[in-house]
Amino acid sequence: MGVPKAELHVHIEGTLEPELVFDLARRNGVPAPAGSVEELRARYMFTGLRSFLDVYYANMAVLRTGQDFHDLAAAYLARAAEQGVRHAEVFFDPQAHLARGVSMGAVVEGLAGAADEARHLGISADLILCFLRDEPAESAAEALRLAEPFLDRIVAVGLDSAEAGYPPAAFAEVFATARAMGLRAVAHAGEEGPPEYVREALDLLRVERVDHGIRSLEDPALVARLRDEQVPLTVCPLSNVRLGLVDAITDHPLARMLEEGLLATVNSDDPAYFGGYAGDNFAAVRSGLGLSDSDLRLLAANSFEASFLPEDRKTDLI
Ligand code: ADE
Ligand code: ZN
Repeated sequence: MGVPKAELHVHIEGTLEPELVFDLARRNGVPAPAGSVEELRARYMFTGLRSFLDVYYANMAVLRTGQDFHDLAAAYLARAAEQGVRHAEVFFDPQAHLARGVSMGAVVEGLAGAADEARHLGISADLILCFLRDEPAESAAEALRLAEPFLDRIVAVGLDSAEAGYPPAAFAEVFATARAMGLRAVAHAGEEGPPEYVREALDLLRVERVDHGIRSLEDPALVARLRDEQVPLTVCPLSNVRLGLVDAITDHPLARMLEEGLLATVNSDDPAYFGGYAGDNFAAVRSGLGLSDSDLRLLAANSFEASFLPEDRKTDLI
């Protein structure tokens, strides 16, 4: 079961297991992306973020209906609950689905319906609408406009997809609009991009959490700022290793982040692709980095602290 925790960095499309890819391809009468589940899984050898994203976007083409998004989220929430996740803040990439003719309503209502049903498993979930940073800011603004009827089901906006060469600055205006609508803000930064992107995310997008942020450690002044302001970092250890951003789990910078007094959390990112869900990531850093029980308790407490839950629910869960 693992220690009770919140998961703050998981892409719902990254929980699409190969078996479900094939089930949905059959159900929707669309071509499967490979000849078999085994053949598809064998492709999950990535040389970097871009090589992963190519497979991730190709596979999600089987997601067509609200029921598909419901079934995807129901499967994730059941697995996460089994691993001790009591609350999840789940990214989704609407621009990728709108481009295939799937409506915003189908995506949001499918995901939100599964979240409502999962309450009986002891897990709550909120949605974070992510903008694709390798698409124009106008496309992000259009996605936000289409999401307006569903804002009661969305807690925040985020920024994801290929990072290098796509600095946060281009999204300052759409993030300002989202914040004016009452949404919270997070962004991927410092995963493959430089520390400067983390600064831009904080200063120009006014994010409340940084997703990944591992490259911040290259910049001592930034580390001091993240510590002083206690900016939460949603770290994804198995993801970083599988994408070649960290050589091995035994070298993962999470231990240093804790030593530096940063508010780090542990998350799965795209568990269907990177070899494990939230509890598996906790287990990997425990054995790989030799973290103590008190380190693990701190990481779990940080996850609730850094969540967008109301303060009284945080206190109940910690
Ligand atoms: N989309 C899904 N997973 C991602 C990651 N690790 N980085 C950026 N965008 C993503
Ligand atoms: Zn991510």
